[in-house]
Formats: sequence, structure tokens, C-alpha cells
Amino acid sequence: MRCSLFLINRFAQCLIIFRIRLEFLLIWFNLRHVEKNKTMSQSIKELIAGNRAWVKEVTESQPDFFKQLAEGQSPSFLWIGCSDSRVPATEITKTMPGAIFVQRNIANMVVHTDVNLLSVVYYAVKVLKVKHIIVCGHYGCGGVLAAMSNKKFGFLDNWLMNIKDVYRHHEAELDAIEDETERGDRFVELNVLEQAQNLSKISFLQEEWENGEFPYVHGWVYSLKDGLIKDLKVSANSNAELDKIFQYDV
Ligand code: CO
Repeated sequence: MRCSLFLINRFAQCLIIFRIRLEFLLIWFNLRHVEKNKTMSQSIKELIAGNRAWVKEVTESQPDFFKQLAEGQSPSFLWIGCSDSRVPATEITKTMPGAIFVQRNIANMVVHTDVNLLSVVYYAVKVLKVKHIIVCGHYGCGGVLAAMSNKKFGFLDNWLMNIKDVYRHHEAELDAIEDETERGDRFVELNVLEQAQNLSKISFLQEEWENGEFPYVHGWVYSLKDGLIKDLKVSANSNAELDKIFQYDV
């Protein structure tokens, strides 16, 4: 009897200790969660603070900058780039708001069923009358490297399919490159060339070329490692380089 009472007592003690430990664990977890949220809200606040600092800086050097910008835009460039946070069009070209009309997606693709992209290109070409369209890829592009692999990326696989098609077109050249980084870099370049060509295939763009010199289509690649842009020197302002099947009648 005495023995079983001792056991019950001991069991109860263990339960209490376990509960105390559990509560400590929960408190620690909650504190961590609060701390994480605090850090996040601070970083959002930092964005707003950054905005205020930027406005102050710009207004000091150009007092009428925002007044003029509010009156309208007439950018000379359309930028088709990757969504990658490390490749922002204006910062890397040292330009200000108002200079570049921008469309970005994963791996800077020009897909002819992408209504968003086509609308942006249409507005840029027909209304803004941009003089240059730049397709800018970047070495080490996650989208391109994902498409080069055989890994599954869920829903993204549907988008990556367009990039895999580019690989298929250049399979012999790419497969011959043994070094994976080099192969990825070349794939990035070839993808830019293909997307620049995809732009030239758009009928309303070819329509513009019938009437004048502009816009020129360019292919560039940005290097994350040194911040420099490489011009692939494929500037086009006609459909002459396209396969005949893509050249629309005048
Ligand atoms: Co990318």
C-alpha cells in the first residue's frame, strides 16, 4: 500500500515537471514568434522610411522632379527582364523613374499567350512609341537553371516548359558543354536570343517596322557577379532575320 502511494506521488511529480517544461517551451516559442513579427514589421517600416529619404534626396537635387513626372510618361525604353530581385531595371542602368517601361517575369520570357506581356508591349509600341525594347536576362537565372534540370517544381513546371523548349532548339550546342555553370550561362544567352526573336515575331511589332525605324529589339545579359551588362549584339528593327514562316505580308 505504502509502495503504491509512493508510485502515485512520484507519477504526479513527474506530470507537474513535464507541464512546467511544456509551458516554458510554449513561452519560448511565442517569444520567438513575436520577435519574428517584430523584425518583419520593422523591415516594412524601413521601406516607408527609405521612401521618405529618397524623396528628400531627389527633391533636393531636382525640386520639380515629381511635379514633372506627374504630368505624364514618355519613356524611350521597354525592358523585359527577370523577376529576380537582384536585377532591377532602373538601378542597374542608373536611370530614374520615367525612363523605362517595365515588364518582368520568371526568366524574362516572351510567351505569345501571355496577355499581360503582350498588352505591355502593345502599349509601349503603339502608344508610348518606345525606341528600344530590351530583353535582359541574367547569368545564374534560377528559372533557366530549373528548366535545365529534370527536377519538378510543381505549378512552375508549366512556365518552365517554355524555357525547356529553348533548350530543345539548342540541344546539340548545350549538351556539348560539359561544365554545368558554363552550360547554364550559355543557356541564359540563348534564351535571351530566343525571346528577342519571339518579340520580332509579334505581328503588331512588324507593323511598326513597316512604317519606320523604331523600335529596335536588343538582347542583353546582366552579370550578378560584377553588375555589368553584356550586349549580345543582336539588335533588330526588321523581320529579315526571322524564319520565313514568321514574316507577315506588308
Ligand atoms: Co532570373
